[in-house]
Amino acid sequence: MKIINISSYLTIITLLVLTTIPSSESYTNHTVGGASGWYFNRSSNKSITDYSKWASGKTFNLGDYLIFDTNTNQTVIQTYNETAYKICNADDTDAATVYSGGAEIGKQVVLSVALIIEGDNYFFSSADDGAQCQKGMAFKIDVEHGVGLPPSLNQPPPPPFVDPPPSDQSTTPSDTTNPSPQAERFHKNGGQSGRIMGMQHMGVVPFCVLFGFLVLVL
Ligand SMILES: *[C@@H]1O[C@H](CO)[C@@H](O)[C@H](O)[C@H]1NC(C)=O
Ligand SMILES: *[C@@H]1O[C@H](CO)[C@@H](O)[C@H](O)[C@H]1NC(C)=O
Ligand SMILES: *[C@@H]1O[C@H](CO)[C@@H](O)[C@H](O)[C@H]1NC(C)=O
Ligand SMILES: *[C@@H]1O[C@H](CO)[C@@H](O)[C@H](O)[C@H]1NC(C)=O
Ligand SMILES: *[C@@H]1O[C@H](CO)[C@@H](O)[C@H](O)[C@H]1NC(C)=O
Repeated sequence: MKIINISSYLTIITLLVLTTIPSSESYTNHTVGGASGWYFNRSSNKSITDYSKWASGKTFNLGDYLIFDTNTNQTVIQTYNETAYKICNADDTDAATVYSGGAEIGKQVVLSVALIIEGDNYFFSSADDGAQCQKGMAFKIDVEHGVGLPPSLNQPPPPPFVDPPPSDQSTTPSDTTNPSPQAERFHKNGGQSGRIMGMQHMGVVPFCVLFGFLVLVL
């Protein structure tokens, strides 16, 4: 006669679910350039820090974010097209997303960029017709699988950019009458890739239940 031990069955299922579903602690937010932020220095005509050096030796995983502390004098292009990165121009590639803080010159913004595609990811500023990019506002990272994408980044399209809270409360009347410029994010192909990768986690929970069931029966 087989003794069915429900509690050990439940324990096994719980352990499997807990170890298979990534928690938010599995992901890292990397502030690009550290305390220097993402800035081009017009006086010296170069980036204020070496972004390739900043990126070297760091581990980047799917589901991590790059946080760009910057102002609207710089943009962020995220692309998977090495040629576009090398020529500092992503106008002719579908594999690029543009992040910007709007048209207002010199406005402080924080741009959050999710890492949703494994492998080489390229970043540069397209401001000043590529001149910033040529002078150091560019870097490449290799995104590793890690624990995979969290469910929140698995569904196309990825979540829209949320405007950061204002850094001071003293908004002028003109700020309230004019709509404040939203950070714009133009999706060219990220959604499609996200959809393909979205399949990865769909089987996890049914698999755990089936596995637990087999343990119980055998
Ligand atoms: C920008 O470059 C100028 C000239 O090289 C330098 O004096 C200044 O400290 C730099 N500013 C920053 C924020 O790095
Ligand atoms: C990559 O970028 C180059 C230069 O803009 C472009 O000619 C090429 O078509 C792009 N490739 C893809 C796959 O988008
Ligand atoms: C932003 O760029 C403008 C020129 O387009 C310049 O006058 C201004 O000083 C810059 N502001 C900052 C904070 O870099
Ligand atoms: C990381 O950045 C994302 C996007 O801005 C945000 O939703 C998330 O809360 C941040 N996580 C941490 C641990 O700061
Ligand atoms: C800054 O560098 C760019 C790119 O090399 C160059 O075209 C431009 O003339 C330089 N500007 C100044 C003020 O030196």
